[in-house]
Amino acid sequence: MLAVALFSLLSAFALNVNAVPCVQFDASWNLYAFGGDQDVKLGSNSSWAQPSVSPLTTSGRPPWTGDNAQCILSQTNNAMYVVGGDSSDLSKIYIYNFASDSWSSQTTSGAPSDLGNSRSSSILDHDTNVIFTLTTGSGLYQLDMSSVTNAASSNALSWEAVSSPSFTETGYTVTAAQAANHVFYFGVPGTAAGSANLFVVHYAYFQPDAQKFSGTAFPDSAGQAISIPNESDNVPYSMVFVPNDFSNTYIATHWTDLGDYTVTTGAPFATDIINSTQTVSAPTSQDKAASYAASPYDLVQIDTTGQIYYYNNVINSDYTVPSGGSWQKMSYALTGGSASSSNSTSSSAAPSGSASASASGASASQSGSATGSATGSASRSGSSASASASASSGSGNSSAAGRSVARGDVIGLALGVVAIGASFFM
Ligand SMILES: *[C@@H]1O[C@H](CO)[C@@H](O)[C@H](O)[C@H]1NC(C)=O
Ligand SMILES: *[C@@H]1O[C@H](CO)[C@@H](O)[C@H](O)[C@H]1NC(C)=O
Ligand SMILES: *[C@@H]1O[C@H](CO)[C@@H](O)[C@H](O)[C@H]1NC(C)=O
Ligand SMILES: *[C@@H]1O[C@H](CO)[C@@H](O)[C@H](O)[C@H]1NC(C)=O
Ligand SMILES: *[C@@H]1O[C@H](CO)[C@@H](O)[C@H](O)[C@H]1NC(C)=O
Repeated sequence: MLAVALFSLLSAFALNVNAVPCVQFDASWNLYAFGGDQDVKLGSNSSWAQPSVSPLTTSGRPPWTGDNAQCILSQTNNAMYVVGGDSSDLSKIYIYNFASDSWSSQTTSGAPSDLGNSRSSSILDHDTNVIFTLTTGSGLYQLDMSSVTNAASSNALSWEAVSSPSFTETGYTVTAAQAANHVFYFGVPGTAAGSANLFVVHYAYFQPDAQKFSGTAFPDSAGQAISIPNESDNVPYSMVFVPNDFSNTYIATHWTDLGDYTVTTGAPFATDIINSTQTVSAPTSQDKAASYAASPYDLVQIDTTGQIYYYNNVINSDYTVPSGGSWQKMSYALTGGSASSSNSTSSSAAPSGSASASASGASASQSGSATGSATGSASRSGSSASASASASSGSGNSSAAGRSVARGDVIGLALGVVAIGASFFM
């Protein structure tokens, strides 16, 4: 742990970027990178070999000081919700409106004190626009964003306790993604390899038993997980899981009939793909704190040094996964970053033209301490049977138990050094 932390510190020294940048797509599948000196638009996949980089507004953007920031696409609203982007108030949600290039920030109340244990702890339920965040001390919480589409409301939104998981979370770094009306939790300690625990959104309960996925078994390890959005803005059915051992990039696909889970007809893909895992190669940059984003076609990673990698055609429209693809390094890397607020030396060099640094660069960076990332998924108002959704039924642990986030010391130390490292290189 200490060795890993030190290693990440050294990397941070050498590479000068915000500790936790992220990438995300808009609903037309243009790629963006956030958390550098400036946030940037990188355009569609046809331009990634020579990206034309446009800076985004800095007005109202998150300070990008959170250790576990998550950038989550609300596909229906063409908006992005940043959870944990501001270390001074982790409960604040920053909302980016892709169409108008503008930020607003949503105040919330009632958040548990241990909100956001990882970069994969929150998902946005596609059909209801409700954020579900699993904590490791206070159970599952939800935040209903349905009244907030692409701009913050002046009224605070309330986090609500939903229920406690059916599994023991001791030592768990939450690694969640959504497929159909289920939230899957990868790498729960003590769960069999190739199986994932799950929460059923529309019935608001944790299934007692983990679900086994056919195909190559992913390890019982935390990591990063995201959903792969659907072009037609349907609920996502496939999830990307990158475990911390970087054995593969796992594409886990799930579908259930909303009315009767024993029904297997009606899936938008072959029956044998239901609850199956397919694989593509592991990311080039084996950075445990990297963040990922997916379009319905492509997968993108940004590591904590700001290097960006992409994998084209990661999934077919029939949800099979083509073989023979590979990760490509983008010639542009995100630089700078306002990480840790302690020093505002960043005279933010506007990202000019295309490639800044990186190209030749030290390839596979390796930083990261421990965490996960997630994003993806999307939102949509009532498709099919979903409308009932979300509901904070469950056994409701509304006490929001006071419990401080572990690993704060290490992260604090890391951030401090990142700040110093960053200021050296600016
Ligand atoms: C609520 O959370 C506390 C603290 O984690 C836990 O001890 C308790 O069992 C939970 N209660 C319910 C009803 O989930
Ligand atoms: C897929 O997994 C879900 C969740 O465990 C389960 O309800 C469903 O029966 C499974 N379907 C198949 C075909 O394995
Ligand atoms: C690029 O994205 C488009 C949709 O925007 C998709 O049709 C195409 O297959 C993607 N190409 C690659 C190489 O991933
Ligand atoms: C999107 O969902 C529709 C309906 O489920 C399906 O037919 C289509 O193949 C999906 N498209 C992609 C790109 O996943
Ligand atoms: C901020 O950066 C400047 C220039 O690098 C440095 O002289 C100063 O000591 C830094 N301040 C803090 C609080 O780190």
